[in-house]
Amino acid sequence: MDELTGLIPEKKPNHIAIIMDGNGRWAKNRGLPRLSGHRAGTENLRRTIRAFVEFGIPYLTIYAFSTENWERPSDEVEGLMHILEEVLDSELAELHQEGVRLKHIGRLERLEKGLREKVQQSVELTENNKRLTLCIAWNYGGRDEINCAIKQIIKDGVSPDDVTDKLVSSYLFTAGIPDPDLIIRTSGEMRISNFLIWQSSYAEWYVTPTLWPDFDREELLKALISYSNRDRRYGKISVCGEDVEKNAQ
Ligand code: FPP
Repeated sequence: MDELTGLIPEKKPNHIAIIMDGNGRWAKNRGLPRLSGHRAGTENLRRTIRAFVEFGIPYLTIYAFSTENWERPSDEVEGLMHILEEVLDSELAELHQEGVRLKHIGRLERLEKGLREKVQQSVELTENNKRLTLCIAWNYGGRDEINCAIKQIIKDGVSPDDVTDKLVSSYLFTAGIPDPDLIIRTSGEMRISNFLIWQSSYAEWYVTPTLWPDFDREELLKALISYSNRDRRYGKISVCGEDVEKNAQ
């Protein structure tokens, strides 16, 4: 057991993906505009990154802007783009110094040129960092990702016999990133919302009613403890199950 956290180190997830839901409700509860919720959510992201470094979890993926989020009111979409730009301007140097590698998953084409270039430069600057890989899903959709992969597989003339799980994974935006072990969704919604639909095939889920801006270190710890008590069987039977069977024979 880890003295500080009560966690069993060998049952710690390697990769956690988070659907940061509930910013709008958080703002509404306070009579504030939705963007204030997104700003509070962004502040919480900073705290979350710190907690990941503290707990030694090397991969974090955040669902920050989906392919469906373009349908939100234009001031919210513009506000979110602005937040991303501000964060890159103000936080990149520190993230780099802290050893955070930034990755982008999704499609950059639709972003305004200046922002697109900032994202690309941030990814390039931090590409050799090792402490934490932070994948930012921005203009990301799981179906879009699979469509892109299929198109590229066809363009590359891959023979049907060579199509395997490994090959498909290598064509996704997440190529080279291990599949998530744990997906956390805040605000109580029980949906996948087009997030990592290929990669999450054997991820454990943790849903909490806590709204994203309030999801703090203690909440993360609760999710980690819940995960450490799971029996991940990947469709097989557990060691306990084998024992039960043997005993019954
Ligand atoms: C979901 O809550 C949240 C989003 C769609 C946006 C999340 C984005 C951020 C926190 C911005 C920070 C990210 C980076 C990388 C700078 P919601 O608006 O759907 O909440 P609701 O369901 O309560 O309305």
